[in-house]
Amino acid sequence: MFYGIGRVFLLKLKNHQVNQASPLNRVQTLVTESSKPDDNVAAILSRLNDRSIVLIGLMGAGKTTIGRRLAKKLNMSFADADTEIEKAAGKTVPEIFEEHGEQYFRDGERRVIDRLLQEHPRILATGGGAYMNEATRATIAEKGISVWLKADFDLLMKRVRKRSNRPLLKTDDPETVMHKLIEERYPIYGEANIVVESKDVPHDQIVIACIETLARHLCQEATAGA
Ligand code: S3P
Repeated sequence: MFYGIGRVFLLKLKNHQVNQASPLNRVQTLVTESSKPDDNVAAILSRLNDRSIVLIGLMGAGKTTIGRRLAKKLNMSFADADTEIEKAAGKTVPEIFEEHGEQYFRDGERRVIDRLLQEHPRILATGGGAYMNEATRATIAEKGISVWLKADFDLLMKRVRKRSNRPLLKTDDPETVMHKLIEERYPIYGEANIVVESKDVPHDQIVIACIETLARHLCQEATAGA
């Protein structure tokens, strides 16, 4: 056993390991037997340079759950952008959409994320549409390291079906909406610094993958800048 991951799982992961040809900013999920979790945490913390870690990805990718756990492991504070928007508005996200429309929500989303990123370094989970805004992408690039939690269609649908709090999916055909969002958003999400596959495995395994990949990215970044 290594850090809660069985040997069989590790061997399976080895088949999907790093694409050595990946350019610096496209590091893929990596878990190895030789990795030392504490070293990786130390490597991340020493190289973040006052930046936040910003989780992006579609509804159901696990941004809030993974973000909260990642924050615990890194001993950083955590914020969920949607929760902060709700606090600022005194209304839930569905209420904001219903009473004021999507554009109003998007304006608030941009302002709240900007504020959260200017305040202090933290782990920030963003709503699925946030990274589509050009100004928000620029702020994230300046003040953070972006991590795209990438999940496949079936997993996203399995997760979003459990809750009915997503206005964009309140339609007769949420599957078609999700396919459309994948098509529209994945090319833009692809601008993120890091991609981590969010699979249907215990959340802690995804957190470990995030830590591994972040550590690797930040070390490569430091080497490239040296
Ligand atoms: C949205 C995603 C939601 C929330 C809003 C719009 C989107 O957040 O911001 O319903 O455009 O994808 P989650 O991704 O956290 O569900």
